[in-house]
Amino acid sequence: MEMDLSLEDFLELSEEEQLPYIGDRAVLYAQQFDRPALDELCAVADRCRALAKSPGGAARMAEILRYRMALNFFVQPSSRTFMSFNTAQACLGLNRMSVRDLAISSMSKGESLVDSVRTFISYVDLVVMRHSDELAAPAAFWTATKAHRRITLPDGRVVPVPIINAGSGTRQHPTQALLDVYTLQRSLRRVGGLDGKTLLLAGDLKRGRTVRSLSMLMTQYPGVSLLFAAPERYQMLPDITDALDRAGVSWRPLDNLVDGLPLADAVYMTRIQDEWDKLDRKGFVRADHRFVFRKEHLDLLRPHAPLLHPLPKRDELDPALDYVDDDRVAYWRQERNGMWMRVGLLLRLFGALQALDEAEAATRA
Ligand code: NCD
Repeated sequence: MEMDLSLEDFLELSEEEQLPYIGDRAVLYAQQFDRPALDELCAVADRCRALAKSPGGAARMAEILRYRMALNFFVQPSSRTFMSFNTAQACLGLNRMSVRDLAISSMSKGESLVDSVRTFISYVDLVVMRHSDELAAPAAFWTATKAHRRITLPDGRVVPVPIINAGSGTRQHPTQALLDVYTLQRSLRRVGGLDGKTLLLAGDLKRGRTVRSLSMLMTQYPGVSLLFAAPERYQMLPDITDALDRAGVSWRPLDNLVDGLPLADAVYMTRIQDEWDKLDRKGFVRADHRFVFRKEHLDLLRPHAPLLHPLPKRDELDPALDYVDDDRVAYWRQERNGMWMRVGLLLRLFGALQALDEAEAATRA
């Protein structure tokens, strides 16, 4: 839809109301992805992973977006999302720049976010951004649609510079949810994939943007039910549970982890998001012992059920889990999957799937 709204009016809209404006021109919210899109992205991620391993495949892949320039604008702490986007961009040959601290950008001189974003998109063909303000990503998207600069995609479409939300406030982290789905689908492949499965989500569900976005994606998998294990003060907020109700996804809160473990086909742990607590002392808020996954809990977990975590992890996961010889401990694989999912996402966003077909054909020849 044409952007006929002022910035203020656009930001007043709910995420759902913004969707027709966004279309597939940016990645702001998990709700933008329906089941065919999710299946396609998982398949493309698998193909990219295989291509990179074949002789000459990695070199061909690095030609696909070689003439593009990306900015990774991460002004909130990040290790893996930042690195995973950087490496995914490198796999496709994109040139990369980063801004990681507002203090050394012109925003410290009082420049507004929209002016800064407008400056960024004068130089780059993609902005990936992480920001503590949940309105920053939609504001950047609005700016990109209103600015004059356009890019031409390989399929001939002329589009505004795409914006990817790599974590916005406490609300959304859509690309993490995509890689979580990819990991879940891969881990559950032998038992028929995600459809009809029970997911146990634990930790800080209230402010955990990864679990919130992942829960939204679960509306695309028929028969999935969700168990939300969290202390009352960190329980999932009604905006998500109402959306689950509307989509017919069953869910229920749990006041401990152990009750859910034997029922779960997958477990997704998260840390307490205490950066929002404005702590006046050093250190961090410890996880309640009823929501800690200990090594011996593996005995309660079903044989096919993977244990996921978006990372970084803290005391909610027993460190002894890191080096156990158990395939169900999936969070380090999940981290690596993130890079491949982001390679797939970039190809799709840049309309470059045909170039992937061609790279595969040339590699086979
Ligand atoms: C998450 C985030 O930033 O929301 N990290 C990540 O991107 N993998 C989770 C977290 O910080 O707890």
